[in-house]
Amino acid sequence: MNKDFLWGGAVAAHQLEGAWNEGNKGPSVVDVMTAGGQGKPRIITDEIEDGVFYPNHEAIDFYHRYKDDIKLFAEMGLKCFRTSIAWSRIYPKGIEEEPNEEGLQFYDDLFDELRKYNIEPVITITHFEMPLYLAKEYGGFRDRKVIDYFVKFAETVFKRYKNKVTYWMTFNEINNMMDYSNPIFLWTNVGVRVKDGENPKEIMYKSAHHVLLASALAVAKGKEINKNFKIGAMLSFVPIYPLTANPADIMLAEELIRKRYFFGDVQIRGCYPNYALKEFERENITIGIMPGDEEILQNGKVDYLGFSYYMSNTVSAEAKAPDADTVNIHGQLPFQVKNPYIKESDWGWAIDPIGLRYALNVLYDRYQIPLFIVENGFGAVDTLTEDGQILDDDRIAYLEAHIKEMKKAVEYDGVNLIGYTPWGIIDLVSFTTGEMKKRYGMIYVDRDNEGKGTMERKLKKSFHWYKQIIATNAEAL
Ligand code: BG6
Repeated sequence: MNKDFLWGGAVAAHQLEGAWNEGNKGPSVVDVMTAGGQGKPRIITDEIEDGVFYPNHEAIDFYHRYKDDIKLFAEMGLKCFRTSIAWSRIYPKGIEEEPNEEGLQFYDDLFDELRKYNIEPVITITHFEMPLYLAKEYGGFRDRKVIDYFVKFAETVFKRYKNKVTYWMTFNEINNMMDYSNPIFLWTNVGVRVKDGENPKEIMYKSAHHVLLASALAVAKGKEINKNFKIGAMLSFVPIYPLTANPADIMLAEELIRKRYFFGDVQIRGCYPNYALKEFERENITIGIMPGDEEILQNGKVDYLGFSYYMSNTVSAEAKAPDADTVNIHGQLPFQVKNPYIKESDWGWAIDPIGLRYALNVLYDRYQIPLFIVENGFGAVDTLTEDGQILDDDRIAYLEAHIKEMKKAVEYDGVNLIGYTPWGIIDLVSFTTGEMKKRYGMIYVDRDNEGKGTMERKLKKSFHWYKQIIATNAEAL
């Protein structure tokens, strides 16, 4: 691997910072999400209710402990650290004239602390968060006005951190909202709740149009502020394989994967793809394109593509689920079947390292811009040995197999890859389930699903393994 390759780790503000109402932070959409897990979905409660446990409120208390945690990241040898900015720390309601200085100062201090150890910050402007006020008063990105609020937020952080941050991404896993049948994806991606009688697909595409404009405007603004910024898109990329060589399976996989490419196609090419225009026409969907929007999209193309890769999906034309119309990023897909060649994690996520090499190739061939793997990882229950060790061999095996395939994509296939930041480098709150026990970290955090524990940090076996990988630039793999 290239000597400048950015080996790192990834997290997101709401999943680790805690301090949800400190430093003048306003409540965000994730602050009203309960814990789920064990088959229970996370519930959106609208208001913060007494007596209800909200796992993100304290998370792993990174807000107060970041200096010690960053020291551990430095000991691991991280070259970069991906996190996000909590929008409601900077604009508590989203609509204020002036930003909240305490929030801005927090990220100044955080970035300085990273820089002290030569760790490059990689920043997602918003990772599944917006001020709760914007979601409730405006219906989130349903309302075009919210574009202005986002762009103002982006401009504020671009200006403030223009000498501290080079790598940015606008919206995390922007394509999650394609799964509009799951209320938490529309809520966290765009602050939207679908009302009875509404066409959820149309609401999603309208909101998506606003988010795509917001992203493009932010990219253009960022380039004015610092022409050396690298501003990327961020997709959840789950390849879709046909189960057999039956042409019906091949074409089905091709049609379904478009749902996952859609946002990347717009953010990277600067216009709507034909397959989407045809879908809007066929289904009589109006997304509300106004004069000038096309230019905005064209002028705000991203520099690189960040993506998460956890698993692949497999489909069969013979397995159509009833009423199946949406593409679930993390779970069931219409026509989805088990891949007989692939094992799954305890949460049903297919473990497919070759899929990562495949993903790198298809994405690079399609877009021809640098790629950045900004999430990859293995969510699993960790148990402590009697003497308090965490021997997470399964996680090491997962990551090692994926890194090997990543190396092939770079060294054999010639994919241009900037870096690799495994997800949840330190244990944090799971996004989909709100659990703590679905752990990804190489640093263990003593906290459980009910919020009990000392918050003490412990190094897992994978910590030492990854440190070695970074130090040797993965030469041995
Ligand atoms: C990605 C998100 O979807 O996957 C992260 O960007 C999330 O926020 C990660 O945590 C893993 O998902 P989960 O549900 O296992 O935490």
